[in-house]
Amino acid sequence: MSDITLPVVPVNAAFTAPNGPLIATGDLRINVGAAEPLSQPRASLCRCGASSKKPFCDGTHRTSGFFDAGEAVPAASIAELTETGPVTFTPLPDGPLLADGPLTVQNAAKQTIATTTSTAFCRCGASANKPYCDGAHAAAGFKG
Ligand code: FES
Repeated sequence: MSDITLPVVPVNAAFTAPNGPLIATGDLRINVGAAEPLSQPRASLCRCGASSKKPFCDGTHRTSGFFDAGEAVPAASIAELTETGPVTFTPLPDGPLLADGPLTVQNAAKQTIATTTSTAFCRCGASANKPYCDGAHAAAGFKG
């Protein structure tokens, strides 16, 4: 028997909780306006636009009337991620949550709907293309 231990390469994933946040796991970096991003293995990121702790979820979605069952269907073609390393989340002022780095995107049924190395997630709650941004934040007057 071999004593070789293979390194565990974290797989970054973002799961859309039904009527709730984007739950990200893996090797995460989260820009919150500080000199250095937060580095953590799990984060619950607001999708409804109502959290007082943006970009994080504070549970307000339960009373804000936010609805998204998270039933996005898998893309017609899902590429295998060959890139490894952290994924960095950056909330744009009054706009979407950018994700840069290898990431598997899952719907509420935990089906993989896409893989990406760069995308923009809705965090205002108004997109018609959830979990992605479609630009609706401008017309919705989203601030945050
Ligand atoms: S998704 Fe939880 S407070 Fe917005």
